[in-house]
Amino acid sequence: MKSHFSIDEQGHLVIGGVSAVELAERFGTPLYVMDEQRVRENYRRFYRAYADRWKKIIVCYAYKANSNLAVCKVLCSEGCGAEVSSECELRTALRAGVPGEHIIFNGNCKSPQELKLAIENNVLINLDSLQEIEVVDEIASKLGRKARVGIRVNPDVKAPTHPYVATGLRESKFGLDVRSGQALDGYRLAKEKENLEVVAIHSHIGSQILDPRPFEEQIRKVLEVVAKIRDELDMEIELVDLGGGIGIPYKPDEKELPPEEVASKVTAAAREAVESYGIQEPTLVFEPGRYIVADAGVLLARVRYTKERPGIPDWVAIDAGMNALIRPALYDAYHHIEVANKMLDKPTKLFNIAGPLCESGDFLGKNRKLPEVQPGDLLVIYDVGAYGLSLSSQHTAKPRPAMVLVNSGRAAIVRERESCEYLTRLDRIPEWLE
Ligand code: LLP
Repeated sequence: MKSHFSIDEQGHLVIGGVSAVELAERFGTPLYVMDEQRVRENYRRFYRAYADRWKKIIVCYAYKANSNLAVCKVLCSEGCGAEVSSECELRTALRAGVPGEHIIFNGNCKSPQELKLAIENNVLINLDSLQEIEVVDEIASKLGRKARVGIRVNPDVKAPTHPYVATGLRESKFGLDVRSGQALDGYRLAKEKENLEVVAIHSHIGSQILDPRPFEEQIRKVLEVVAKIRDELDMEIELVDLGGGIGIPYKPDEKELPPEEVASKVTAAAREAVESYGIQEPTLVFEPGRYIVADAGVLLARVRYTKERPGIPDWVAIDAGMNALIRPALYDAYHHIEVANKMLDKPTKLFNIAGPLCESGDFLGKNRKLPEVQPGDLLVIYDVGAYGLSLSSQHTAKPRPAMVLVNSGRAAIVRERESCEYLTRLDRIPEWLE
């Protein structure tokens, strides 16, 4: 059990000083719970890991992991910037109080409307294609402003992770190709544009990475590009944005990748490259998502029924499925599961845990050893603070779960549970059906 959880004398799980059983009774299930202190601790640990080893660093939390307004406000209060990938994430960052100058806008297919909003707020835009360079220059010119930009490059680094979340390989859709010289062409083109201020280089090699080596390879390759840009185009790049990607242990026996270890290796590689190329010491920018919020969040779900099936583990049907948490169905991801009201009971039997939807992919865990499970028990699904609610859906017209924030014994709703009215509020009936 991770250090921010405990167990009370009734054998109930406690998070943020509040009993999970009480939370489920008070707010209903399925319920996402975020531990505010853990979010702060994770952020501070990540920040310190780099700040202790490099002079100029910027950390921008990746909103796609969890863009709940209250969670974003917590991070903003820590002085953390924002990495956003859509208009709504950008608006959330501004609403949370993050100054435009501390926001980075990424994505391979941004709309003119999104770009306009970003330029108006002085957000740093990482451009993802040669065409986007033209588009942003044009929009900035119409607005009579200069757009602060970087270019996302594809450094061709293999990341040991699920293929759906590896983004730094040549064949991925992201960034301008380094090997063929396209990345340099991008900088050449951007340099000529009157309405662009080129300040950054961006790359992101993938997510859920538990090995420091790909990050070392990334910084080496990116600084080589920075040196080429200086040598061939006489441009100095101030901000070297390395994206996110540090993973967390999801399985109880998995080892963490300490951010200090990555930071020490990445900054050592950076120092070496800075010296050997004789380039300026850049500001290093990081966009962690999962590391900051994943283990701060749990999903509480109620057991409704159990069922025996000779020869295979018993089925347990709970009220949260792939609608609430799609990671097991989409990536075959492991999320540890326990019985929140029987934390002191010995696991004795294997169970398969199913959601309520009519799809066989609708499971949250298979072959899990748990204490005897009965209807009414409360299951806790761990490490869902990142890419949990943010990837949830209304499959089978199931309203999405609520989210509460807990801190020192207090609990408050930070996202209301959706209702049936909410789900159909945008439906319309054409007049010929009236
Ligand atoms: N920066 C960029 C440009 C990104 O695309 C991402 C994540 C991040 C930062 C944050 O990466 P992190 O530190 O969280 O690894 N839905 C998947 C993860 C997709 C990640 C996409 N990009 C999952 O549930 O595992």
